[in-house]
Amino acid sequence: MAEENPQPAEHELRGGSGQSVEDGEEEEEYGSDSPLESDYDSVSESEESDGEHSIKSTRLLSKDTIQEIIENGRRYCNETYFMPNDDAEQTRLNIIHQIYLILLDGELLKAPLVKGPSRVLDIGTGPGDWAIELGEQYPNAEIIATDISVFDAGPSTLDLPNVFFQLDDAEDEWTYHEPFDLVHLRGLSGAFSDWGAIYRRAFHHLKPGGHIEIADADVAADIINIPNSRDSYFSIWVSAMHSAAEACGYPRNQDHLRPAALTAAGFVNVRVYDLTFPVGIWPEEPREKTLGKMALIALLEGLEATSLRQLTATGNWSADAVRDLCEKVKTELVTAHGMTARVRIVTAKKPIPKTRTWRERNAADALKDALKRLDIHDEQLAKDMVRDMEG
Ligand SMILES: C[S@@+](CC[C@H](N)C(=O)[O-])C[C@H]1O[C@@H](n2cnc3c(N)ncnc32)[C@H](O)[C@@H]1O
Repeated sequence: MAEENPQPAEHELRGGSGQSVEDGEEEEEYGSDSPLESDYDSVSESEESDGEHSIKSTRLLSKDTIQEIIENGRRYCNETYFMPNDDAEQTRLNIIHQIYLILLDGELLKAPLVKGPSRVLDIGTGPGDWAIELGEQYPNAEIIATDISVFDAGPSTLDLPNVFFQLDDAEDEWTYHEPFDLVHLRGLSGAFSDWGAIYRRAFHHLKPGGHIEIADADVAADIINIPNSRDSYFSIWVSAMHSAAEACGYPRNQDHLRPAALTAAGFVNVRVYDLTFPVGIWPEEPREKTLGKMALIALLEGLEATSLRQLTATGNWSADAVRDLCEKVKTELVTAHGMTARVRIVTAKKPIPKTRTWRERNAADALKDALKRLDIHDEQLAKDMVRDMEG
């Protein structure tokens, strides 16, 4: 790592210069740490042929290629991604970052990360709050923070020497030349049409023993519980967003947070943390009270942001109709008592390939030879015996 000392490349935008289970938190672990072949050694064809980039670099969109779009009074980074990137959205993301910090007792991660040199990839970094804080907390880590969008006034304008902001679309091929210790994705529900492909790329670009962490709390994914709210405007709003997202092929649900989605890509030791927290001014206890107020503000601020483009894009809703629905939902939410939300954080590990000792190899090879000489053709028996020898 020391010799890597990344030079701010032309593509850079800015930058350059398991804890205890608590109330409301449920943790479960899936998958065993079974050995798998490491696959990073085999550099992909594209990486081999990609000589014009530095060892750190990834294929990037240039800032000039971004044509921001003003649509129904909100600013978007492209024609398709459903969330805006204007100041109001930046503020909302900042509040959500603070909520995560409270939920994680001031920590930034559930997955382990060594304090020494390490490489971290934060996909869809947004304004960069998480990446910047991680960079401060881990001065020996190198953090590559990517996004398809630019947040002009965000913390990414701070020049931390170990945090590198890059414009990059995670749905395109990943051309990183060195593996990561951690790949982090937060708030990316609805950003990808194929999460399986994202996980397979993350797996490929992690070091053996490296981790992935995914966190999401998308309101379109049934994460809000309002007591006695079956026929509410809120449920109409949620189901409209859900259907619109399905229709456009960028689903907003919890499927990518299932352990099976990670194990299918080869990950092991999948841990799931479900954290439930209050939304609203109803809690009494100080921590819950703070969380409740912040979550309510973030939810209200996000009503239009999370639905306006998504619903108008289907052609079934006008902007005025969406805003009208949002107003009705807002009235319901500010008076709802006992409302809660659930965030899911999933961590998983890329297995470390098991290396056999000389003794294990020697014993297994001797057995294979003996079976051959004895002309024993019971394949299953041979396999079982060799497996027992190999441990
Ligand atoms: C809801 S924000 C979350 C931002 C940040 N991760 C956080 O937790 O504050 C989602 C971010 O993902 C970015 N994004 C969406 N699609 C993306 C893609 N295909 N590749 C990279 N970033 C993407 C958006 O531009 C946006 O900044």
